[in-house]
Amino acid sequence: VQSDSDFRPNFHFTPDSGWMNDPNGMFYLDGTYHLFFQHNPDDNVWGPMHWGHATSTDLIIWEEQPIAIEPDEYGTIFSGSAVVDHKNTSGLGDGTTPPVIAIFTYHDAEAADAGDDDYQTQGIAYSLDKGKTWIKYKQNPVLQNPGIRDFRDPKVGWHEEEQKWIMALAVQDRISFYSSPNLLEWEHQSDFGENMGGHGGVWECPDLFKMTVEETGEEKWVLLVSINPGGPNGGSATQYFVGDFDGGTFTPDKSIAGMKEEHDYWIDFGKDNYAGVTWSNIPESDGRDIFIGWMSNWQYANEVPTEQWRSSMTVPRNLRLKKDGDTYRILSSPVKELEKYFSGSKEVETIKVGGEPEVLASSGDFTSTVINFKIPNLQDQIYLFTFSNEVGDNLKFGYSHIDKEFFLDRGDSGLTDFNDVFGRETSTAPRLADSHTLDVEIVMDKTSIEIFYDNGKTVMTEIFFPREPYEILTADSKEDFELRDLQINQLNFN
Ligand code: FRU
Repeated sequence: VQSDSDFRPNFHFTPDSGWMNDPNGMFYLDGTYHLFFQHNPDDNVWGPMHWGHATSTDLIIWEEQPIAIEPDEYGTIFSGSAVVDHKNTSGLGDGTTPPVIAIFTYHDAEAADAGDDDYQTQGIAYSLDKGKTWIKYKQNPVLQNPGIRDFRDPKVGWHEEEQKWIMALAVQDRISFYSSPNLLEWEHQSDFGENMGGHGGVWECPDLFKMTVEETGEEKWVLLVSINPGGPNGGSATQYFVGDFDGGTFTPDKSIAGMKEEHDYWIDFGKDNYAGVTWSNIPESDGRDIFIGWMSNWQYANEVPTEQWRSSMTVPRNLRLKKDGDTYRILSSPVKELEKYFSGSKEVETIKVGGEPEVLASSGDFTSTVINFKIPNLQDQIYLFTFSNEVGDNLKFGYSHIDKEFFLDRGDSGLTDFNDVFGRETSTAPRLADSHTLDVEIVMDKTSIEIFYDNGKTVMTEIFFPREPYEILTADSKEDFELRDLQINQLNFN
């Protein structure tokens, strides 16, 4: 059986030691991507939250930095965001470098235990050395709690048209929008969420940003909202709403009017992508909306079989917005920086599959690998793929063209019995494209699979803990089919 170090991902970010959950405060500045994260440095389970910190020059290789923000007399440090205050609207700059401002939730656990309702407030810290060290603002908190138990996860962005800052805040079962000229004083604008979308659990970790629709050039605002529980395959997941935002009110697009509790607007249908948000301050010349999520689920996050550290992030993803018939869809794909690490790719033109399992790769190393292939001429049948090892662990995934549904089954993938629900149910996801060719991209690490179908229209991300690394990939189907353009790219980080 593999141990802790065998389970530590090769290229997905993990903390050196201790617990991690949500990504926080991501911003880019002068060649460096910053990633902060919910962190309990003293234990491998959730506890008193700090903001851990890591940096990267390419979003793939991360270097952990000293803890950025520590708890203080107002509470522990819950999720939030960071912005570069170029115009020094906050007045916290020193006149030479623009200050970076982190906006986070203070969680006062003692007040919560005492039964108070107002235990979550918003505070800020600022950095005058481009994100390296942080100073707490003296007049914290900057946003008091109006007496609401869940009042957290501020995501702040600059609204160019209105020349003001906008904060999206998760407030129980809705998102509240606040605005500010200076990041210090906040005024409530509006609420969104009543009778819209999934409400199986509390709303958390919003993100609001403007996107340009591919091909049409139209501009739309996108609101990401994580919910826990209530995800399409149980537990935690992130839904999205497309609409317009005028600086005060978010108006959902007419195509999603009356969006029900059950819907298919999820950033990821797998069980392990939660609380994801996008980087701020990406230069206009780049123009990407770069997203990262926490690759776990509150159903079992505290129990997964690692000791020294717990949890990793997803691969950073580029989000795109496309008009699809009458509606809008977010598509995601791994950031192109990952391709820098491709080495020794194996390319096969066409493979004929049918009747019995066909080996696509044997004695392969799938612990840092990107695999692509296409299935042209989809037939009404099930396409099954399996990663396996010599001790009989199987990770199964594929597509049923009968049900127009993808599936991912980690029931026999290795260690599963550390938790009741981890291996219990096969995850499913709808196919949202209707082309005759299915395009598949798979990002594999030691303990995670991220599958991007139809150029990222449907995504499924899940973690697993095999007793030995997977070495074989097979394809299987009832009727014959041709698998085209198979590419197996090993990633090399040396
Ligand atoms: C989401 C979340 C946030 C909160 C943080 C606490 O996973 O519950 O709402 O700020 O985790 O660690």
